[in-house]
Amino acid sequence: MIIAANFKMHLTPHKLATFAATLRDSLDSRLQILLFPNTACLASLPQCHVRWGAQNAYPAQNGAFSGEIGAEVLDALQIQTLLVGHSERRALGESQDFCAQKCRFYAELGFTLVYCIGEPHNVRAGGQESVRAFLDSQLHTIPLDYPNLIIAYEPIWAIGTQAASLEQIATTHADIKALCAARGATLPLLYGGSVKPNNAHDILSLDNVDGVLVGSAALVVSDFVKIMQAGLQTL
Ligand code: PGA
Repeated sequence: MIIAANFKMHLTPHKLATFAATLRDSLDSRLQILLFPNTACLASLPQCHVRWGAQNAYPAQNGAFSGEIGAEVLDALQIQTLLVGHSERRALGESQDFCAQKCRFYAELGFTLVYCIGEPHNVRAGGQESVRAFLDSQLHTIPLDYPNLIIAYEPIWAIGTQAASLEQIATTHADIKALCAARGATLPLLYGGSVKPNNAHDILSLDNVDGVLVGSAALVVSDFVKIMQAGLQTL
């Protein structure tokens, strides 16, 4: 089971060190913990047996791309995990083609990729068929046969608000697994969007949910640990 946290712009290096010092005592080998701190923290990561990843990277070794981080620097920092396609990056202008390009570039380098997909509210309002078609378009041109690929389903309308219902998660995860299977791929599938200590157990108990991607509830280490414990209870 995978429990991942996206800290977005939160947590300074100092706060991250405090977070990791507490987390260390709660690690359990049955859980795969992936943590995505902000880029500045990657240079001074605390000691903690988790998989650290970057929230963003540019698909090039290095070059004239101000404000970006490339493969050469990530390699020097021993980072081999990357979040791609988060809706907050897409909202900043990252196209589907660019997300796919990033996936292909970092797959070539052997990175573990957490690729985020998820529909906006108006697509959800159109019913499950339109949700499925939208998600299908986000899987298009992604190297789904890449063995180190993890998909995270994060409905945009559920991020920072209220989680999707258990029924919506179950139905949509079944759809995504089927879309992947139709392309010959069996991939781990995480749910993200307002996962909290009080809903994690129910979400993680669902079929086709292989883990969660947590945002705001991961900022408080005791809450993140509760989500991990909820995951352990479902094993
Ligand atoms: P949230 O964020 O848990 O605060 O809704 C999830 C995410 O954006 O990955």
